Amino acid sequence: MDKIRIHGGRALSGSIKVSGSKNSALPILAATLLTKDPCTIRRVPDLSDTNYMLQILKHLGAEVERASGTVTIAAAKIDSIAPYDVVRRMRASVCVLGPLLGRCKEATVSMPGGCVIGDRPIDLHLKGFEALGAAVRVEGGNIKIFAPKLKGAVIDLKGKFGPTVLGTDNVIMAAALADGTTVIDDAAQEPEVVDLANFLNKMGAKIEGAGTRRIIIEGVKELHGTEHDIIPDRIEAGTFLVAGAICGKGVTIKRAEPSHLTAVIDALQNCGYRIAVEDKSVSVSPNGAAKPLNIATECYPGFPTDMQAQMCALLSTTRGSSSITENIFPQRYMHVAEMKRMGAHMELEGATARIEGVDQLLGAPVMASDLRASAALVLAGLKAEGITEVSRVYHIDRGYEHLDEKLSELGAEIERVKA
Ligand code: EPZ
Repeated sequence: MDKIRIHGGRALSGSIKVSGSKNSALPILAATLLTKDPCTIRRVPDLSDTNYMLQILKHLGAEVERASGTVTIAAAKIDSIAPYDVVRRMRASVCVLGPLLGRCKEATVSMPGGCVIGDRPIDLHLKGFEALGAAVRVEGGNIKIFAPKLKGAVIDLKGKFGPTVLGTDNVIMAAALADGTTVIDDAAQEPEVVDLANFLNKMGAKIEGAGTRRIIIEGVKELHGTEHDIIPDRIEAGTFLVAGAICGKGVTIKRAEPSHLTAVIDALQNCGYRIAVEDKSVSVSPNGAAKPLNIATECYPGFPTDMQAQMCALLSTTRGSSSITENIFPQRYMHVAEMKRMGAHMELEGATARIEGVDQLLGAPVMASDLRASAALVLAGLKAEGITEVSRVYHIDRGYEHLDEKLSELGAEIERVKA
């Protein structure tokens, strides 16, 4: 298993281009199952997660062609049983349920495993499918869904921790081919949900209200092929903005969508960093001593849970007392123990991390655990004195396209080591 080795203390400067969004590409790739026509999707990032999704589509019978960031998928004839040995490796595989139900009126997909950021239930997804008239059974570790026909319904998708992103996506995709109108209340408002709705409307769906808490889908008989450009990855962009804050002297993120980054930009400005926003780029630079911050993760447009670990890395070397409260995945703190091994002063109190900024982190061998925690350990390594080695880099490869190469372009002393 590869490692990433960082020689910390280098100041970053320059610019990088953001890749297409992983969390938009995954549901949109799944949505191509809703039509027998070919669909062409551009700016699909080259990640293990997107590659897993393409493998699943192939297993289901779709023809898949990939030329760098452009993918063409033709799901002329498909099976409705997703293969366990691929599905088990990526929880987001669950987003093939909605399109399979919409297209085939049945689906069998293995139950998604939990993961280190916490229990990953799909009760809200299944509640939505049942509201549309589907019968849901869990059998032998598989979810089996069957619906003689799908009928529009009024569905509230709010859960204990707020809206569900992939749950909203799944219900939209199933409802797109249902009879009648579906109303989703307490829908997720993430930009990735909007991107999916825009893609589906280009396929002939009739979806209104994406990006608000109430989404209305008027079912149609069938959908046709289309072309689409995936939106920029706001979490990759945010991760690089934090890298620029931690040890930059002027870093610009290009091909971004600044309107998707307001909560992250606000947080960095509240820490005292200078942020400049252009049409498709955001720049961060130091502006005197950084200030501590108390922040909580919320569903969009609040501060993203996928940026929580990266903020822990930044605040660990920001003088003063800070805190981060995780309201979406309360257990999403695998990075804290590893950062403490680098000298960070952090204590967990339930879902809140209390952070006392230190002057200096010290490089150490650390272990990646989940996608965003791994990126946060790389950020901490950029700041730390000496060498930091992040093992289990496959976590990073799930969601960041060439992270080490992009950081190297900004002046980091970073290399991928074949273990
Ligand atoms: C999406 O996951 C993202 N993944 C996650 O990003 C992101 O952290 C998450 O949304 C929250 O924003 C993709 O889009 C592929 P949820 P999703 O359903 O949809 C609970 C990354 O790092 N819940 O919005 O699976 C759930 O446990 C990944 O890129 C239920 O209780 O998350 C959580 O506490 C990590 N029942 C909260 O809701 C359900 O049926 C939000 O989860 C579904 C979810």
